[in-house]
Amino acid sequence: MSFKFKNSYSFAFKTSLAISLVISLILGFILWIEPSLSYLYFELIFITALVFVISFLIIQSRIEAFIYLKIKNLYKELNLIDSISLSKTEITTDMKSLLQNISEISKVNKLEIESLKVREEFRKEFIGNVAHELKTPIFTIQGYVENLIDGAIDDNLVRDKFLNRAKISVERLIYIIKDLDMITKLESGTLNLDQDSFDIIELIKNTYDQLEIQAQKKDIKLIFNKLYSDPIIVFADKDKIQQVITNLVINSIKYGTNKGTTEVSLEDITSDKLIIRITDNGEGIQKEHISRLFERFYRVDQSGSRKQGGSGLGLSIVKHIIDAHNENIYVESKFGIGSEFSFTLTKKI
Ligand SMILES: Nc1ncnc2c1ncn2[C@@H]1O[C@H](COP(=O)(O)OP(=O)(O)OP(=O)(O)O)[C@@H](O)[C@H]1O
Ligand SMILES: [Mg+2]
Repeated sequence: MSFKFKNSYSFAFKTSLAISLVISLILGFILWIEPSLSYLYFELIFITALVFVISFLIIQSRIEAFIYLKIKNLYKELNLIDSISLSKTEITTDMKSLLQNISEISKVNKLEIESLKVREEFRKEFIGNVAHELKTPIFTIQGYVENLIDGAIDDNLVRDKFLNRAKISVERLIYIIKDLDMITKLESGTLNLDQDSFDIIELIKNTYDQLEIQAQKKDIKLIFNKLYSDPIIVFADKDKIQQVITNLVINSIKYGTNKGTTEVSLEDITSDKLIIRITDNGEGIQKEHISRLFERFYRVDQSGSRKQGGSGLGLSIVKHIIDAHNENIYVESKFGIGSEFSFTLTKKI
């Protein structure tokens, strides 16, 4: 049978044994040098036993009281760190439960610290990216304004050219700020969806109309895979879905080849779900970039001299909007051949 003494019992036992041994040795020595007291040898055994029991009781109770006090103080300190999880914990002198509690707290705190570190990194990166994106148009505007002040304003032709270029940079600033505002609202959950029934075919046609001039500049055709003569009614936030389609079609134009095509197709996947595909035959995306496309500020071409001046927020906004609708978005792309972005929507039956 295995019986494990509490640490404090074993300490009290050994100490009491040592005390009673020392006392019995001293008393034994006295009896030995004083033969007239030799009849007290039997009492010596009794006194030793008594000393042992009394010392054991005193030492044990003092240790318990001491440990209890220390542990209580420790719990008090720990409660300051973690008031919820420990406030109901019963205080005992049992070291095992104390160690268990401490290790639980340290685990929770470690996780919290890790997530704070990640958030801090995230924040730094976000601010760095925002500053970087705003820098270019602001410096451009500053350059033109300074040139105008320095005399360029006197030449009407140069003045108009510089003012127009400054205006383009102001528009770029507004575009970035709007995207940042949208992404912040989407991420903080303060942007509520305003869902209703609407015809998705009509919405895509409207978006095509708005982007026609942009597409014409590259001689890109905006088409459907077939004739959709009947409306297809979906239930979603119309403005946000328009933003999704706009961002995807703009991308297909921006990263599309001259004389290319952007094609939209719609297909039922279940009785109440629809998949909308936006396909282009543009530059395509290399495999290694695909998994990061929806990260904010992520661009395939990170160089400052890149052909297309986007901030890399478009797809991140698209993903947030689709997630908010509890729908899915997919991407398939072959470098040099083209890309297909598709997302699901819920039909209104
Ligand atoms: N249809 C596409 N074909 C090829 N590459 C694409 C396509 N769509 C997106 N990409 C790549 O994915 C990157 C991220 O796209 P995203 O729309 O998020 O940013 P952006 O277009 O660079 O900037 P923004 O949309 O904020 O103006 C782009 O920089 C581009 O390299
Ligand atoms: Mg884009």
